[in-house]
Amino acid sequence: AFPKRVRLVEVGPRDGLQNEPNPIDTATKLELIDRLGAAGIGYIEAASFVSPKWVPQMADHREVMTGLKRRQGITYAALTPNLKGLEAALECGVEEVAVFGAASEAFSQKNINCSVAESLERFAPVLERAREANVRVRGYVSCVLGCPYEGEIAPAKVAEVSKALFDMGCYEVSLGDTIGVGTPLAAKRMIEAVSRDIPMEKLAAHFHDTYGQALANLYAVLEEGISVVDSSVAGLGGCPYAKGASGNVASEDVVYLLNGLGIETGIDLNKLAETGTWITQTIGRPNRSKVGVALAAK
Ligand code: HMG
Ligand code: MG
Repeated sequence: AFPKRVRLVEVGPRDGLQNEPNPIDTATKLELIDRLGAAGIGYIEAASFVSPKWVPQMADHREVMTGLKRRQGITYAALTPNLKGLEAALECGVEEVAVFGAASEAFSQKNINCSVAESLERFAPVLERAREANVRVRGYVSCVLGCPYEGEIAPAKVAEVSKALFDMGCYEVSLGDTIGVGTPLAAKRMIEAVSRDIPMEKLAAHFHDTYGQALANLYAVLEEGISVVDSSVAGLGGCPYAKGASGNVASEDVVYLLNGLGIETGIDLNKLAETGTWITQTIGRPNRSKVGVALAAK
Protein backbone atom coordinates (compact mmCIF):
# COMPACT_ATOMS: atom_id res chain seq x y z
CA ALA A 1 0.00 0.00 0.00
CA PHE A 2 1.08 3.59 -0.59
CA PRO A 3 2.40 5.53 2.40
CA LYS A 4 0.32 8.46 3.72
CA ARG A 5 3.30 10.73 3.93
CA VAL A 6 6.65 10.76 2.16
CA ARG A 7 9.82 12.41 3.41
CA LEU A 8 11.86 13.95 0.63
CA VAL A 9 15.64 13.96 0.97
CA GLU A 10 16.90 16.78 -1.23
CA VAL A 11 20.31 15.86 -2.60
CA GLY A 12 20.61 18.66 -5.17
CA PRO A 13 23.31 20.69 -3.38
CA ARG A 14 25.46 17.53 -3.14
CA ASP A 15 24.54 14.90 -5.76
CA GLY A 16 23.19 17.61 -8.03
CA LEU A 17 26.26 19.81 -8.01
CA GLN A 18 29.15 17.41 -7.36
CA ASN A 19 29.68 16.71 -11.03
CA GLU A 20 29.51 20.28 -12.34
CA PRO A 21 32.73 20.99 -14.22
CA ASN A 22 32.69 24.75 -13.66
CA PRO A 23 33.23 26.08 -10.17
CA ILE A 24 30.05 27.14 -8.40
CA ASP A 25 30.65 29.69 -5.69
CA THR A 26 29.81 28.91 -2.11
CA ALA A 27 27.31 31.77 -1.94
CA THR A 28 25.25 30.18 -4.73
CA LYS A 29 25.25 26.83 -2.91
CA LEU A 30 24.17 28.52 0.31
CA GLU A 31 21.37 30.36 -1.44
CA LEU A 32 20.22 27.11 -3.05
CA ILE A 33 20.12 25.38 0.33
CA ASP A 34 18.22 28.28 1.86
CA ARG A 35 15.65 28.39 -0.94
CA LEU A 36 15.09 24.65 -0.64
CA GLY A 37 14.48 25.08 3.06
CA ALA A 38 12.04 27.92 2.37
CA ALA A 39 10.12 25.61 0.02
CA GLY A 40 9.47 23.26 2.92
CA ILE A 41 12.08 20.58 2.33
CA GLY A 42 12.87 19.01 5.69
CA TYR A 43 16.12 17.28 4.87
CA ILE A 44 18.92 18.68 2.73
CA GLU A 45 22.17 16.97 1.86
CA ALA A 46 24.30 20.06 1.79
CA ALA A 47 27.89 18.97 1.24
CA SER A 48 30.35 16.16 0.91
CA PHE A 49 33.49 15.76 3.03
CA VAL A 50 35.41 13.85 0.38
CA SER A 51 38.82 14.43 -1.11
CA PRO A 52 38.94 17.65 -3.17
CA LYS A 53 41.20 15.79 -5.60
CA TRP A 54 38.42 13.32 -6.25
CA VAL A 55 35.50 15.74 -6.28
CA PRO A 56 36.72 19.34 -6.68
CA GLN A 57 33.21 20.78 -6.69
CA MET A 58 32.73 19.76 -3.05
CA ALA A 59 36.03 21.28 -1.89
CA ASP A 60 34.22 24.10 -0.06
CA HIS A 61 32.41 21.65 2.24
CA ARG A 62 33.57 23.47 5.39
CA GLU A 63 32.40 26.87 4.13
CA VAL A 64 29.04 25.40 3.11
CA MET A 65 28.41 23.57 6.39
CA THR A 66 29.43 26.52 8.55
CA GLY A 67 27.82 29.16 6.32
CA LEU A 68 24.35 27.63 6.43
CA LYS A 69 21.50 29.73 7.68
CA ARG A 70 19.93 26.96 9.73
CA ARG A 71 16.19 26.86 9.68
CA GLN A 72 14.33 25.15 12.45
CA GLY A 73 13.14 21.63 11.76
CA ILE A 74 15.50 21.05 8.84
CA THR A 75 18.26 18.46 8.87
CA TYR A 76 21.41 19.50 7.01
CA ALA A 77 23.52 16.45 6.22
CA ALA A 78 26.86 15.68 4.59
CA LEU A 79 28.63 12.69 3.09
CA THR A 80 31.59 11.37 5.08
CA PRO A 81 33.34 8.37 3.53
CA ASN A 82 35.90 7.95 6.30
CA LEU A 83 36.98 9.21 9.73
CA LYS A 84 38.90 12.12 8.22
CA GLY A 85 35.70 13.33 6.57
CA LEU A 86 33.64 12.76 9.68
CA GLU A 87 36.03 14.67 11.95
CA ALA A 88 35.99 17.63 9.59
CA ALA A 89 32.20 17.51 9.38
CA LEU A 90 31.88 17.37 13.18
CA GLU A 91 34.11 20.44 13.47
CA CYS A 92 31.61 22.21 11.25
CA GLY A 93 28.70 21.25 13.49
CA VAL A 94 27.07 18.74 11.18
CA GLU A 95 24.08 17.02 12.76
CA GLU A 96 23.81 14.07 10.44
CA VAL A 97 26.14 12.31 8.01
CA ALA A 98 26.08 9.53 5.44
CA VAL A 99 28.49 6.79 4.46
CA PHE A 100 28.31 5.42 0.95
CA GLY A 101 28.98 1.89 -0.18
CA ALA A 102 28.07 -0.10 -3.25
CA ALA A 103 26.57 -3.39 -4.32
CA SER A 104 29.23 -3.59 -7.04
CA GLU A 105 32.92 -4.32 -6.44
CA ALA A 106 34.07 -2.44 -9.52
CA PHE A 107 32.06 0.66 -8.67
CA SER A 108 33.32 0.60 -5.09
CA GLN A 109 36.90 0.62 -6.38
CA LYS A 110 36.28 3.48 -8.81
CA ASN A 111 34.25 5.58 -6.41
CA ILE A 112 35.97 5.18 -3.05
CA ASN A 113 39.14 3.30 -3.99
CA CYS A 114 38.51 0.14 -1.98
CA SER A 115 36.59 -3.12 -2.07
CA VAL A 116 33.08 -3.48 -0.67
CA ALA A 117 34.42 -5.40 2.34
CA GLU A 118 37.12 -2.79 2.97
CA SER A 119 34.53 -0.02 2.73
CA LEU A 120 32.44 -1.66 5.43
CA GLU A 121 35.54 -1.96 7.64
CA ARG A 122 36.20 1.72 7.05
CA PHE A 123 32.62 2.69 7.89
CA ALA A 124 32.57 0.87 11.25
CA PRO A 125 34.75 3.44 13.07
CA VAL A 126 32.82 6.26 11.35
CA LEU A 127 29.61 4.91 12.86
CA GLU A 128 31.25 4.45 16.24
CA ARG A 129 32.62 8.00 16.31
CA ALA A 130 29.32 9.41 15.08
CA ARG A 131 27.44 7.60 17.82
CA GLU A 132 29.76 9.16 20.42
CA ALA A 133 29.05 12.56 18.91
CA ASN A 134 25.30 11.91 18.80
CA VAL A 135 25.21 12.23 15.03
CA ARG A 136 22.95 9.96 13.02
CA VAL A 137 24.38 8.09 10.06
CA ARG A 138 22.57 7.27 6.87
CA GLY A 139 23.91 4.53 4.62
CA TYR A 140 23.93 4.57 0.84
CA VAL A 141 24.21 1.57 -1.42
CA SER A 142 25.06 2.40 -5.05
CA CYS A 143 24.40 0.40 -8.19
CA VAL A 144 21.35 -1.37 -6.78
CA LEU A 145 19.79 -1.82 -10.22
CA GLY A 146 22.91 -2.06 -12.33
CA CYS A 147 26.54 -1.05 -12.51
CA PRO A 148 28.36 0.88 -15.24
CA TYR A 149 31.24 -1.61 -15.01
CA GLU A 150 29.64 -4.93 -13.99
CA GLY A 151 26.22 -4.68 -15.60
CA GLU A 152 23.49 -6.54 -13.74
CA ILE A 153 23.56 -6.65 -9.97
CA ALA A 154 21.78 -9.38 -8.04
CA PRO A 155 19.13 -8.22 -5.54
CA ALA A 156 20.73 -10.61 -3.02
CA LYS A 157 23.98 -8.61 -3.22
CA VAL A 158 22.09 -5.36 -2.62
CA ALA A 159 20.34 -6.97 0.35
CA GLU A 160 23.65 -8.19 1.79
CA VAL A 161 25.39 -4.81 1.67
CA SER A 162 22.27 -3.00 2.91
CA LYS A 163 21.99 -5.36 5.87
CA ALA A 164 25.65 -4.85 6.73
CA LEU A 165 25.11 -1.06 6.83
CA PHE A 166 21.90 -1.39 8.82
CA ASP A 167 23.46 -3.83 11.33
CA MET A 168 26.37 -1.46 11.72
CA GLY A 169 23.98 1.24 12.91
CA CYS A 170 22.85 3.19 9.86
CA TYR A 171 19.34 4.35 10.79
CA GLU A 172 18.25 4.33 7.15
CA VAL A 173 19.59 2.75 3.99
CA SER A 174 19.22 4.64 0.72
CA LEU A 175 19.15 2.44 -2.34
CA GLY A 176 20.81 4.11 -5.31
CA ASP A 177 20.10 3.37 -8.93
CA THR A 178 23.27 5.29 -9.65
CA ILE A 179 23.07 5.09 -13.43
CA GLY A 180 19.29 5.07 -13.77
CA VAL A 181 19.04 1.79 -15.65
CA GLY A 182 16.32 0.22 -13.54
CA THR A 183 12.76 -0.51 -14.58
CA PRO A 184 9.73 -0.87 -12.27
CA LEU A 185 9.65 -4.65 -11.95
CA ALA A 186 13.37 -4.82 -11.21
CA ALA A 187 13.00 -2.00 -8.68
CA LYS A 188 10.15 -3.82 -6.99
CA ARG A 189 12.08 -7.10 -6.79
CA MET A 190 15.13 -5.34 -5.40
CA ILE A 191 13.03 -3.64 -2.69
CA GLU A 192 11.37 -6.95 -1.85
CA ALA A 193 14.78 -8.59 -1.41
CA VAL A 194 16.17 -5.80 0.78
CA SER A 195 13.03 -5.46 2.90
CA ARG A 196 13.27 -9.08 3.99
CA ASP A 197 16.14 -7.99 6.26
CA ILE A 198 15.36 -4.32 6.89
CA PRO A 199 11.98 -2.78 7.77
CA MET A 200 10.47 -0.93 4.81
CA GLU A 201 10.29 2.34 6.77
CA LYS A 202 14.08 2.25 7.14
CA LEU A 203 14.65 2.22 3.39
CA ALA A 204 14.88 5.10 0.92
CA ALA A 205 14.73 5.13 -2.87
CA HIS A 206 17.51 7.11 -4.57
CA PHE A 207 16.78 6.90 -8.26
CA HIS A 208 18.55 8.62 -11.12
CA ASP A 209 16.66 9.34 -14.31
CA THR A 210 19.22 8.52 -17.01
CA TYR A 211 16.81 6.29 -18.93
CA GLY A 212 13.66 8.22 -18.02
CA GLN A 213 12.43 5.46 -15.70
CA ALA A 214 12.84 7.10 -12.31
CA LEU A 215 9.23 8.18 -11.74
CA ALA A 216 7.89 4.81 -12.90
CA ASN A 217 10.36 3.06 -10.61
CA LEU A 218 9.35 5.30 -7.73
CA TYR A 219 5.69 4.57 -8.29
CA ALA A 220 6.48 0.86 -8.10
CA VAL A 221 8.39 1.09 -4.83
CA LEU A 222 5.97 3.57 -3.23
CA GLU A 223 3.31 0.96 -3.80
CA GLU A 224 5.52 -1.45 -1.88
CA GLY A 225 5.53 1.00 1.02
CA ILE A 226 8.71 3.01 0.52
CA SER A 227 8.21 6.37 2.27
CA VAL A 228 11.54 8.15 1.88
CA VAL A 229 12.58 9.46 -1.53
CA ASP A 230 15.87 11.12 -2.50
CA SER A 231 15.60 13.65 -5.30
CA SER A 232 17.34 16.65 -6.74
CA VAL A 233 15.80 20.00 -7.61
CA ALA A 234 15.59 20.49 -11.40
CA GLY A 235 16.97 16.96 -11.77
CA LEU A 236 20.49 18.32 -11.37
CA GLY A 237 23.40 16.01 -11.24
CA GLY A 238 25.38 12.97 -12.19
CA CYS A 239 28.06 10.89 -10.55
CA PRO A 240 31.70 11.63 -11.45
CA TYR A 241 32.50 7.91 -11.24
CA ALA A 242 29.57 6.71 -13.34
CA LYS A 243 30.01 8.06 -16.85
CA GLY A 244 26.82 9.16 -18.56
CA ALA A 245 24.74 9.01 -15.41
CA SER A 246 22.27 11.88 -15.37
CA GLY A 247 20.80 13.59 -12.37
CA ASN A 248 18.49 12.26 -9.74
CA VAL A 249 14.80 12.21 -10.34
CA ALA A 250 13.66 15.84 -10.14
CA SER A 251 12.22 16.88 -6.78
CA GLU A 252 9.47 18.92 -8.47
CA ASP A 253 8.36 15.87 -10.47
CA VAL A 254 8.29 13.70 -7.35
CA VAL A 255 6.23 16.24 -5.41
CA TYR A 256 3.79 16.58 -8.31
CA LEU A 257 3.40 12.79 -8.45
CA LEU A 258 2.92 12.54 -4.69
CA ASN A 259 0.40 15.41 -4.68
CA GLY A 260 -1.58 13.53 -7.30
CA LEU A 261 -1.52 10.38 -5.20
CA GLY A 262 -2.74 12.33 -2.17
CA ILE A 263 0.52 11.63 -0.33
CA GLU A 264 1.66 14.44 1.97
CA THR A 265 5.11 15.99 1.75
CA GLY A 266 4.75 19.40 3.39
CA ILE A 267 6.49 20.97 0.39
CA ASP A 268 5.38 24.06 -1.51
CA LEU A 269 5.62 22.93 -5.14
CA ASN A 270 5.59 26.42 -6.59
CA LYS A 271 8.44 27.61 -4.40
CA LEU A 272 10.36 24.46 -5.20
CA ALA A 273 9.83 24.95 -8.93
CA GLU A 274 10.98 28.59 -8.67
CA THR A 275 14.12 27.33 -6.96
CA GLY A 276 14.71 24.92 -9.83
CA THR A 277 14.31 27.71 -12.37
CA TRP A 278 16.63 29.97 -10.41
CA ILE A 279 19.45 27.46 -9.90
CA THR A 280 19.45 26.22 -13.49
CA GLN A 281 19.56 29.79 -14.79
CA THR A 282 22.28 30.69 -12.31
CA ILE A 283 24.60 27.81 -13.24
CA GLY A 284 23.61 27.69 -16.89
CA ARG A 285 22.05 24.23 -16.96
CA PRO A 286 18.85 23.01 -18.59
CA ASN A 287 16.00 22.43 -16.17
CA ARG A 288 15.45 18.65 -16.20
CA SER A 289 12.22 18.80 -14.24
CA LYS A 290 9.26 18.59 -16.60
CA VAL A 291 7.01 19.91 -13.85
CA GLY A 292 9.44 22.76 -13.24
CA VAL A 293 9.47 23.69 -16.91
CA ALA A 294 5.68 23.45 -17.16
CA LEU A 295 5.10 25.61 -14.09
CA ALA A 296 7.62 28.20 -15.27
CA ALA A 297 5.75 28.50 -18.58
CA LYS A 298 2.39 29.14 -16.91
P1 HMG B 1 42.03 7.43 -1.13
O1 HMG B 1 42.91 8.12 -2.07
O2 HMG B 1 41.96 5.95 -1.15
O3 HMG B 1 42.28 7.91 0.39
O4 HMG B 1 40.58 8.03 -1.31
P2 HMG B 1 43.53 8.00 1.26
O5 HMG B 1 43.05 7.78 2.67
O6 HMG B 1 44.63 7.16 0.73
O7 HMG B 1 43.93 9.56 1.13
C1 HMG B 1 44.42 10.12 -0.08
C2 HMG B 1 44.34 11.64 0.01
O8 HMG B 1 42.99 12.05 0.17
C3 HMG B 1 45.11 12.21 1.19
O9 HMG B 1 45.56 13.51 0.80
C4 HMG B 1 44.03 12.37 2.23
O10 HMG B 1 44.33 13.34 3.18
C5 HMG B 1 42.86 12.79 1.38
P3 HMG B 1 47.04 13.76 0.25
O11 HMG B 1 47.93 13.23 1.35
O12 HMG B 1 47.18 12.97 -1.02
O13 HMG B 1 47.08 15.24 0.07
N1 HMG B 1 41.57 12.45 2.00
C6 HMG B 1 40.59 13.34 2.23
N2 HMG B 1 40.49 14.67 2.00
C7 HMG B 1 39.35 15.27 2.37
N3 HMG B 1 38.30 14.62 2.92
C8 HMG B 1 38.36 13.31 3.16
C9 HMG B 1 39.55 12.62 2.81
N4 HMG B 1 39.93 11.33 2.91
C10 HMG B 1 41.16 11.25 2.41
N5 HMG B 1 37.33 12.67 3.72
C11 HMG B 1 38.37 8.59 -0.63
C12 HMG B 1 39.47 7.57 -0.58
C13 HMG B 1 37.10 7.94 -0.12
C14 HMG B 1 38.73 9.78 0.26
C15 HMG B 1 38.22 9.06 -2.10
O14 HMG B 1 38.06 7.95 -2.91
C16 HMG B 1 37.07 9.99 -2.30
O15 HMG B 1 37.08 11.12 -1.82
N6 HMG B 1 36.03 9.56 -3.02
C17 HMG B 1 34.88 10.40 -3.23
C18 HMG B 1 33.97 9.79 -4.19
C19 HMG B 1 32.69 10.60 -4.26
O16 HMG B 1 32.51 11.59 -3.58
N7 HMG B 1 31.77 10.15 -5.11
C20 HMG B 1 30.53 10.78 -5.29
C21 HMG B 1 29.61 10.56 -4.13
S1 HMG B 1 28.86 8.93 -4.12
C22 HMG B 1 27.51 9.08 -5.16
O17 HMG B 1 27.34 10.07 -5.81
C23 HMG B 1 26.47 7.98 -5.16
C24 HMG B 1 25.22 8.32 -4.34
O18 HMG B 1 24.60 9.49 -4.81
C25 HMG B 1 24.23 7.17 -4.40
C26 HMG B 1 23.94 6.73 -5.84
O19 HMG B 1 23.53 7.54 -6.66
O20 HMG B 1 24.13 5.54 -6.06
C27 HMG B 1 25.59 8.54 -2.86
MG1 MG C 1 23.25 9.62 -6.50
